[in-house]
Amino acid sequence: MSEQRLKTSIAILGCGEVGATLAYTLLQNPICSEVILVDPKKELLDAQVRDLGDATYGGRAATKIRAGTHQEAGQADVVVITAGAKQKPGESRLSLLSRNLHILSSIFTSMSPISPHTILLLVANPVDILTYFARKLSGLPESQVLGTGTSLDSARLRGVLAQKAEVSPSSIDAYVLGEHGDSQFVAWSNASIGSTPLRLALSAKLSDEFKADIESHTRGAAGAIIAAKGCTAYGIGNVAASICKYILFDSRTVRPLSFYQPELGCCLSMPAVIGRKGILRAMPIQLDEDEQKLLEDCAEGLRAVIEGAEKELKADDELRHALEKHA
Ligand SMILES: NC(=O)c1ccc[n+]([C@@H]2O[C@H](COP(=O)([O-])OP(=O)(O)OC[C@H]3O[C@@H](n4cnc5c(N)ncnc54)[C@H](O)[C@@H]3O)[C@@H](O)[C@H]2O)c1
Repeated sequence: MSEQRLKTSIAILGCGEVGATLAYTLLQNPICSEVILVDPKKELLDAQVRDLGDATYGGRAATKIRAGTHQEAGQADVVVITAGAKQKPGESRLSLLSRNLHILSSIFTSMSPISPHTILLLVANPVDILTYFARKLSGLPESQVLGTGTSLDSARLRGVLAQKAEVSPSSIDAYVLGEHGDSQFVAWSNASIGSTPLRLALSAKLSDEFKADIESHTRGAAGAIIAAKGCTAYGIGNVAASICKYILFDSRTVRPLSFYQPELGCCLSMPAVIGRKGILRAMPIQLDEDEQKLLEDCAEGLRAVIEGAEKELKADDELRHALEKHA
């Protein structure tokens, strides 16, 4: 057995705010032999590896951290893609598309040939669109390409509902579904506290106004944090580390994640069972009529963006061929 196969490794592409926070979370809660960081900014990469390495000398460090190349990353058990531009205050996630799609496309060229067993976890935004294209560009089976999607929004939802109901967040079962972006929606019809439906558990409190307040809190959380500190990192670092754990431990945990929805023609978040092979299966959810409409509208918006992005990639290809011919 090769040296590499004896290790479990997680490669993180992009060691900016999110990548470094994820790496730190993985070092504090070890689940693999090594974390490999990759970033074209060499000085930043070296500094992050040294700084994070300093956090591993305390005696309980089981995970090593090192810098690596895209090629090495392509052989890791899990590759987390945080590489790309982030939103400026007030900017939407979709506005990052053109820049981050080009970065994504160059990443797959540099990682090739990617191991057929690798699981890809997309974090960079707009995460649903990038997950869709990662699936195409990587050549990996659909089940091995997933995006963090609305798992962070759902964690925020659990947090705010837990405060209102005065229970632990772990007792809340409620999902934000659809796009990790403006068209996301809360699946209120399925929400529960323990096994008690939310409408019984919160009864009088659960007005339309209450729901609208919570939805706007969940949808606007990232924007408010970015406006104040320029990025969000701890929440997504924690969520991404948990997903890596579900994968490597084959834990078969159910979470809303972004993955390909054949009947909707795009990637968006729906509940899924997560394990060593990625998305093991979709977990069916019965939405009410209004939620079903929101899901379809959300998919329609994402499909329109995908169509535009496909044209852009095709035009890039044509330009590259023309330049090669001319040279
Ligand atoms: N999905 C979510 O819930 C969520 C939450 C927070 C942030 N994000 C997204 O994560 C991304 C990263 O955010 P950040 O705050 O860490 O940004 P950042 O600017 O701090 O870091 C991005 C890093 O990616 C690197 N990079 C660029 N091209 C690369 C390549 N080809 N290979 C490897 N690395 C490359 C850059 O050099 C930079 O260091 C953004 O797109 C942001 O919107 C997503």
